[in-house]
Amino acid sequence: MIGLFYIALLCIHQSLGHRAPKTEHEIEVQRALQAAAYHCAPAVESFTASRKRSWAQRALTGIPGLPGQQGLFSADTYADIADSAHSQANDDDTLMNCTPISETHIQNNTCVLAPEVTEGPYYHNEGHPIRQNIAELQDGLLLLLDIGVIDVETCQPLPNVLVDVWQANATGYYAGHPLPHPHLANVGPATEGRRRGLMPAYPRTVHEETWLRGAWPTDKNGVVQFTTIYPGYYTGRATHIHTKVYPEWSVIPENNTFKAGRLAHTGQWFFDEDMNMVIDKMHPYITNPIKDIRGRTRNSQDSLNIFQDSHGPEGKYNPIFKVHLLGGVLSQGLVAYITMGVNASASYDNFWKG
Ligand SMILES: *[C@@H]1O[C@H](CO)[C@@H](O)[C@H](O)[C@H]1NC(C)=O
Ligand SMILES: *[C@@H]1O[C@H](CO)[C@@H](O)[C@H](O)[C@H]1NC(C)=O
Ligand SMILES: *[C@@H]1O[C@H](CO)[C@@H](O)[C@H](O)[C@H]1NC(C)=O
Ligand SMILES: *[C@@H]1O[C@H](CO)[C@@H](O)[C@H](O)[C@H]1NC(C)=O
Repeated sequence: MIGLFYIALLCIHQSLGHRAPKTEHEIEVQRALQAAAYHCAPAVESFTASRKRSWAQRALTGIPGLPGQQGLFSADTYADIADSAHSQANDDDTLMNCTPISETHIQNNTCVLAPEVTEGPYYHNEGHPIRQNIAELQDGLLLLLDIGVIDVETCQPLPNVLVDVWQANATGYYAGHPLPHPHLANVGPATEGRRRGLMPAYPRTVHEETWLRGAWPTDKNGVVQFTTIYPGYYTGRATHIHTKVYPEWSVIPENNTFKAGRLAHTGQWFFDEDMNMVIDKMHPYITNPIKDIRGRTRNSQDSLNIFQDSHGPEGKYNPIFKVHLLGGVLSQGLVAYITMGVNASASYDNFWKG
């Protein structure tokens, strides 16, 4: 049998409690998005299947090329998607034909969406470089992100939308926001209120740092890939990666950053608890300074209810990456997939800053 080892992570089906600090209006927006997304499920299934096949082929022929290196990831990486999507579609020529769900095996829970949640305190309004490899010199487990973006109104993939990502390093810090900071040295997490469990946001004191931050546009198939490391944890938050999606944006050539235009999505992605648990014990994750003090926050214990909120108002979204090994053993790294359904014509201010 083929030696591609993979770990299938199940979608979470249970309905999650909703205590999110969102307004009725915000929840209605989520419901509309979710309803629009249901009929995209078949398109998403075939989208994801093609991407998996493509990665499997690469893994079987050796170490796959890394996004952002040697131009290996051209826009043609997923040239086979059009064919396979077409063979599964009824009679339409479009890449992601929008087929109504008629098969009972396609559940409403399609492992597809990421609803709007807070951008948190570590977003930088400017200065995220346009690049696919965001790791710089950060040590950690190789992680390739494979992100598909579809428009829930049309079920079409969204080419040329800018996907902006930022995350903590292996021991839980964001570029530009180091600790110790003298006036926070002895502060503990909030014990009550909305920010219960969280430390005060670490101030940005190192303005030139850009590691684990970057943005790249989706290719013609609506796919974008990044090379990074598995994120570490910090007080009060489940392990996660942040994202924003901009349908309108422009490059600032002087410093290879971008000027953001309309914002269509702000979200956070998560990892399966079993995977977090294993990686926690690997170096350098094991050196996390809060390991023996507060430890890693489990998904279900996430502060500000963000993990639960990321499942949408009816608990039917799935913000957890599907993760596969890139090689024969974990230390060779992982590829993580997710498909985001976003409303391409929406224009959000961030819902709440948290
Ligand atoms: C899926 O969700 C839609 C919209 O809420 C609903 O009409 C439909 O009955 C649901 N289908 C299943 C199988 O739960
Ligand atoms: C990049 O260049 C633009 C235009 O000169 C400037 O406004 C912006 O502040 C620069 N960003 C960074 C992070 O240097
Ligand atoms: C994460 O970043 C912090 C702040 O720059 C740094 O002190 C720490 O060594 C980094 N962690 C790893 C594993 O490199
Ligand atoms: C998408 O956004 C547009 C513009 O705000 C809005 O009119 C439309 O209802 C939204 N569609 C869905 C499915 O949420």
